[in-house]
Amino acid sequence: MLANFHEVLGMTKNILVGGQYGDEGKGKIISYLAIKDNPEVIARGGVGPNAGHEVNYKGKRYPMRMLSCGFVNEKSRILTGAGVVVDPDVFLKEVEMIGGNPKRCGVDFRATWLTKEHIERDSSQTPGKIGSTKTGCGPAVMDRAGRVAKTVSECPELKPYLTDVVKEINEAKNVLIEGSQGFMLSVLYGTYPFCTSKDISASTIAADVGIGPKNIDEVIMVMKAYTTRVGGGPFKGEKNKDEAEKVGMQEYGTVTGRPRRTSFDLHWDDLKLAATINSATQLAVTKVDIKFPGNEGKRKYEELTEEAKKFIEEIESKIGVPVTLIGTGPDTEDTIDRREKVL
Ligand code: IMP
Ligand code: MG
Repeated sequence: MLANFHEVLGMTKNILVGGQYGDEGKGKIISYLAIKDNPEVIARGGVGPNAGHEVNYKGKRYPMRMLSCGFVNEKSRILTGAGVVVDPDVFLKEVEMIGGNPKRCGVDFRATWLTKEHIERDSSQTPGKIGSTKTGCGPAVMDRAGRVAKTVSECPELKPYLTDVVKEINEAKNVLIEGSQGFMLSVLYGTYPFCTSKDISASTIAADVGIGPKNIDEVIMVMKAYTTRVGGGPFKGEKNKDEAEKVGMQEYGTVTGRPRRTSFDLHWDDLKLAATINSATQLAVTKVDIKFPGNEGKRKYEELTEEAKKFIEEIESKIGVPVTLIGTGPDTEDTIDRREKVL
């Protein structure tokens, strides 16, 4: 069994991104990697508080919107990058939620300050058909592009947390970067205009936290064993709520509580494009236990049912990227780790 990915490789800077419509289970995988790999710095990129990443750790559920789910490792520094739009209320609430130690958390001084006005504008201006989370992200991103946004440096409540994430991340040896949303929600490559307000592929996530493309070692793309989408837009193979409920695939949004739309299938062409543009070197497949009952809580590949193993092989052959992490339950520890495949 692999002791510690970083110990084997020495110095690593890894990015984790979503390969579908968000809600792939990034939070759970990040929390596993945070505990297992013990990174000095864990930084979050992506849009902002529209993304809810959920961790279930030691019997408690944490829906994280501004801070990385890597907080479960108490030794890691938890940072939010310059590319993220930051709602101070959400940020401060989450600092409290994870123990209230201001020395642990930081936000890049260049990040955009998401204000109450942005939240109001999200409700009044963002076209309803998109099904925005109305958390103010789109208007904050627009103001940044229009060069009229304030940065978090001007927000008094965030003063104690301001830092230079670029410096911290480039000086650290072992870094884990948490992307948000999913490839199909990218404003460039997703189902435009039914998408979020930014690109969220690995290159953009790297830029969000201030790390150059040549300094990234592994790009782990997370995908769920089936497909869900919350909000408007095209969605292949959509089932109705009853059908999804029957097989345990009916989910509800972490941020908005809205029911997610469900397809039992994987959308192979989308996943292949996502793997290409993200330059995925590894895949993490979550909720294999929901897709194939009988695999709940399995922590060794050999213990998976034949059907589940075949499914993993199918993913590897169709997408052409090794599946190194497999989620078999909501708990951080319900994870099969096969990263020795790529070492
Ligand atoms: P907005 O980014 O909040 O404006 O939302 C635009 C679209 O992206 C809506 O369909 C949202 O449901 C979706 N979206 C944004 N962020 C996430 C996420 O983290 N997970 C899932 N869907 C998201
Ligand atoms: Mg989510």
